[in-house]
Amino acid sequence: MKHPIFILLLILPALALTAAGDFPMARRLINTQGCKACHKLEGFGGDFARPLDGVGDTLSETQLEQKLKTGNTTPYMPGHQHLTQEERTSLAQFLKSLRGQEKKRPAQRPASSSRKRS
Ligand code: HEC
Repeated sequence: MKHPIFILLLILPALALTAAGDFPMARRLINTQGCKACHKLEGFGGDFARPLDGVGDTLSETQLEQKLKTGNTTPYMPGHQHLTQEERTSLAQFLKSLRGQEKKRPAQRPASSSRKRS
């Protein structure tokens, strides 16, 4: 009867990978908290704020968490004090893990002065 144990050995690492590698809590929050109304993630979402892919390149996990908690007045980003500490930490860790995807974006942002008037 070696069979059941063999199957378990195959399944366990797969379970561990899904749980640790894919940030299920953070992904669920991003979809339920409306982040994509303003931010793109992996190509989907709004253009009001910068894409979330690559925020980990410039901000530390602590800074990300702080930004999530307090939000911003102008331009407007809602604060997320209603989330638990655990939820904000999971979001910050997920966003931090997105670094390195910066390469997929154009090397330089278009100049913000594209609406010159004169
Ligand atoms: C109403 C639109 C809106 C929503 C909803 C929103 N954001 Fe933002 N977010 C912004 C704006 C605008 C900024 C830029 C603020 C600034 O300049 O500091 C921003 C900034 C950020 C930053 C910092 C980016 C940087 O480089 O400074 C992070 C991280 C972020 N948002 C994550 C999130 C997450 C995660 C959610 C959902 C839980 C979310 N945002 C929901 C509008 C929004």
